[in-house]
Amino acid sequence: MPTTQILGTGLAVPDRIVTNDDLAKLIDTSDEWITQRTGIRQRHWVVEGESGTGLSKIASERAIAAAGIAPDEIEAIIYATSSPDHFAPGNGVFLQREMGLGHIPAIDIRTQCSGFVYGLSIADAYIRAGIYRTLLVVGAEVQSTGMDVSDRGRNTAVIFADGAGAAVVRAHDDPSGSAILGWDLHGDGAFAEKLWVDAPGSIYHPRNQAEHFDNKSFLEMDGKEVFRHATTRMPESVRAAMAQAGVTAEQLTLLIPHQANLRISEMVQKQLGLRDDQVYNNIDRYGNTTAGTIPIALDECVRAGRLKRGDLLAITAFGSGFLWGSAIIRW
Ligand code: UT7
Repeated sequence: MPTTQILGTGLAVPDRIVTNDDLAKLIDTSDEWITQRTGIRQRHWVVEGESGTGLSKIASERAIAAAGIAPDEIEAIIYATSSPDHFAPGNGVFLQREMGLGHIPAIDIRTQCSGFVYGLSIADAYIRAGIYRTLLVVGAEVQSTGMDVSDRGRNTAVIFADGAGAAVVRAHDDPSGSAILGWDLHGDGAFAEKLWVDAPGSIYHPRNQAEHFDNKSFLEMDGKEVFRHATTRMPESVRAAMAQAGVTAEQLTLLIPHQANLRISEMVQKQLGLRDDQVYNNIDRYGNTTAGTIPIALDECVRAGRLKRGDLLAITAFGSGFLWGSAIIRW
């Protein structure tokens, strides 16, 4: 049975940088509060004319170049986003069209912060079932256009940001080589409203209502509740994936946690007993790009030489749904 190898990665963020001081001019917040509570110093936000599809095209082209394959070798796209360019269709087909990838399937998944972990699990299942051998997995978001950039929305506006990461994954036929060694995926809809965007939604008649604009269409978050669950679920899930993979925390070369809040990452690190050099964080520069955080961080690690073939990588995410999950990857 083939295993799954991540062959090449890429990232793209908008050129526009928004610092904490920039936000403090618009809302009642401060660089000090944001840095201390979240670890974020700046983030990238789109300007008019930029899109999730556009960012993911750049990230995908970089991933394809790094993989050293031709674009027409891609057999399927798995596109994770909670902030698609349009209500329907999803961004997968727009990416396919913009990249001229031919009539390949494009699957959009909506598992928010856990999008890349879930997307990779689907790619792995296709590969191991022998259905496809080369896939493009994308995690990308444009969150800034859905933020309530006012005092009312200050607990989310300072956190969420825009960016895309992509990975070319390919069937690997050496059983002792690259592989996704263990998975752990979960969901708990009891907490769906703790981190959500209520409208537009088909539950409303009609779906689009002017009055929703100001009270239901922004991302809403119960930060404390999300924080509490994230710091429990991510270590629990990494442990479950490590048990499946037959790997211990000491053996991990690197953990890339979803970049939601530096304090969350530090608590996950502590609970798993990992050293500083075993954990990668870049939230200070990018904020929380939801499905984008893990593939963006992964691309930085690969390009900086933090991962070499044979190393053991863990990824873990928690977010809206609640949905969470982890994977252990032999790079
Ligand atoms: O992507 C996955 C999902 N997201 C997460 O994992 C995020 C999880 N949650 C968090 O990261 C944190 O809960 C936050 C960073 C959102 C908030 O940090 P906190 O330490 O939980 O703060 P808090 O919500 O308890 O608020 C403390 C104070 C409040 O003021 P009072 O009531 O003490 O007077 C807030 O109104 O901080 C205030 N506050 C702010 N002050 C300045 C909330 N947001 C801001 C802000 N600037 N941006």
